[in-house]
Amino acid sequence: MKTSTCPSSVCLLFIFTIFFNSVTASRFNIPRLSPIKGAILQEPEIRSSERNISGDYEDLFYNQTLDHFNYRPESYSTFQQRYVISSKYWGGANSSSPIFAYLGAEAPLDNDVLFIGFLPDNSIRFKALLVYIEHRYYGKSIPFGSREEAFKNTSTLGYFNSAQAIADYAEILMYVKKQYHAEDSPVIVVGGSYGGMLASWFRLKYPHVALGALASSAPILYFDDITPQDGYYSIVSKDFREASESCYQTIRDSWSAIDKVASQPDGLSNLSKKFKTCFPLKTASELKDYLLELYSDAAQYNQPLRYPVNVICGGIDGEASGSDILSKIVAGVAAYEGDHKFCYFSPNNESETAVGWSWQNIKLILQRFGSNIIFSNGLKDPYSSGGVLENISDSVVAVNTVNGSHCLDILRKNYGDPDWLVKQRETEVGIIEGWIAKYYADLKELKIYDNRNLYSRKI
Ligand SMILES: *[C@@H]1O[C@H](CO)[C@@H](O)[C@H](O)[C@H]1NC(C)=O
Ligand SMILES: *[C@@H]1O[C@H](CO)[C@@H](O)[C@H](O)[C@H]1NC(C)=O
Ligand SMILES: *[C@@H]1O[C@H](CO)[C@@H](O)[C@H](O)[C@H]1NC(C)=O
Ligand SMILES: *[C@@H]1O[C@H](CO)[C@@H](O)[C@H](O)[C@H]1NC(C)=O
Ligand SMILES: *[C@@H]1O[C@H](CO)[C@@H](O)[C@H](O)[C@H]1NC(C)=O
Ligand SMILES: *[C@@H]1O[C@H](CO)[C@@H](O)[C@H](O)[C@H]1NC(C)=O
Ligand SMILES: *[C@@H]1O[C@H](CO)[C@@H](O)[C@H](O)[C@H]1NC(C)=O
Ligand SMILES: *[C@@H]1O[C@H](CO)[C@@H](O)[C@H](O)[C@H]1NC(C)=O
Repeated sequence: MKTSTCPSSVCLLFIFTIFFNSVTASRFNIPRLSPIKGAILQEPEIRSSERNISGDYEDLFYNQTLDHFNYRPESYSTFQQRYVISSKYWGGANSSSPIFAYLGAEAPLDNDVLFIGFLPDNSIRFKALLVYIEHRYYGKSIPFGSREEAFKNTSTLGYFNSAQAIADYAEILMYVKKQYHAEDSPVIVVGGSYGGMLASWFRLKYPHVALGALASSAPILYFDDITPQDGYYSIVSKDFREASESCYQTIRDSWSAIDKVASQPDGLSNLSKKFKTCFPLKTASELKDYLLELYSDAAQYNQPLRYPVNVICGGIDGEASGSDILSKIVAGVAAYEGDHKFCYFSPNNESETAVGWSWQNIKLILQRFGSNIIFSNGLKDPYSSGGVLENISDSVVAVNTVNGSHCLDILRKNYGDPDWLVKQRETEVGIIEGWIAKYYADLKELKIYDNRNLYSRKI
């Protein structure tokens, strides 16, 4: 069964584009409501934990900052972001009882509150406070006053990306902790699919806000498994094409132009000179790889302030029309990198794109900086091809099921659930219990230490 957290494959590229902050406005087609979603709502379900949605849950709005990363005047404007809280089973601040937070994905929050059962199904066991937060630009969490305004143009859409979204979540969770005097309560973030990626990245980026993450069916490695043409680079091309058709054509034609020059005697050294490379090129593909990386970088980090794709295309299209293709490309590189540079494509400079996209490096990031993340996968789920399927460390683990489907483990329990699903959820809950137990032990030690300090300061 699918839920709103689990997108159709049509949405996947869309998802990745927001996830890596590579936003250009025209990519943001407003996702159609999947017919499956309506069907779920009518499905007669046997619920293990009947809940009174209207009675147990508070529907709230937070005055959210539009832009968490820039300091322009409009960055400080705000919009109302929806979140839903249930404190029915919360053990309270005195016992530092935990907070379970569901990080909304590419859909309005309503269905999540109904169907993401992992939170309510475990609320009694953990005495947890439950918080569901809606993703910006969905449901009732629309900036600029209306959907129409929010989706109007590149300026208004520039704030629609996952980096802003997880910063929203951090702000709301810190606010909730303060409201409930729950500063010592550990937070576990939960998400599915794109939301699962958000949850795992949230734990990496805001480890002081969340103690751990449960990332269900999160295809964070998806692009390793598909050919570049089909996935990542098709988005990059699309970006450039949308910025300028002639720029796109020039780049397309440049690959064979590079090959042609490189195949001649002196060709490579001419290319090295022309592109002012920081080291002599040994092969044509060296240059092509660098250029591809540069374009990818631009598309991926195509942020509202700078619009690097437009900058590159401005350089390419701005070159005199009589110029040869490679002079145009050089002009594009100079426009992006700045023409003051002594040389380009220094071999030491690893781009963020390269870091972000290769499995080796994601694995490395998780190994080095990651802890307390569960990646749960159903191996029947096509998206599991992009999931983390192996245990990375003691606390970055994969909990897989052979017959599981997309996001199944975080949906609410049913009486008819197969044993393997019950077991998968038990495993996840057990791991989370372990994190929380360790946290309480650490907290206790810290408090003893603090008291000692207090004592020694007094005398
Ligand atoms: C659900 O909660 C509402 C508001 O508290 C209450 O009026 C209603 O009677 C409750 N319904 C059930 C079935 O408990
Ligand atoms: C939200 O914050 C802005 C800026 O701080 C303020 O001007 C506005 O009145 C606030 N709105 C609400 C509903 O609190
Ligand atoms: C929580 O602790 C404070 C201070 O020790 C106490 O005043 C308060 O009554 C406690 N609250 C509950 C719900 O136990
Ligand atoms: C986008 O729309 C807003 C509101 O109508 C307008 O103020 C702004 O100038 C537009 N930006 C662009 C890049 O067209
Ligand atoms: C390389 O540069 C030299 C000198 O500018 C030129 O004569 C030669 O034709 C160039 N070779 C190629 C393959 O472009
Ligand atoms: C690469 O890094 C070096 C040192 O950090 C810097 O001086 C140089 O400008 C960088 N080159 C590019 C192309 O970014
Ligand atoms: C990873 O570790 C967890 C906890 O020890 C275990 O339940 C799980 O089966 C392991 N996953 C894999 C893929 O080995
Ligand atoms: C998975 O499903 C297949 C076919 O329905 C079944 O034969 C197999 O036993 C199942 N595996 C597990 C681990 O439940």
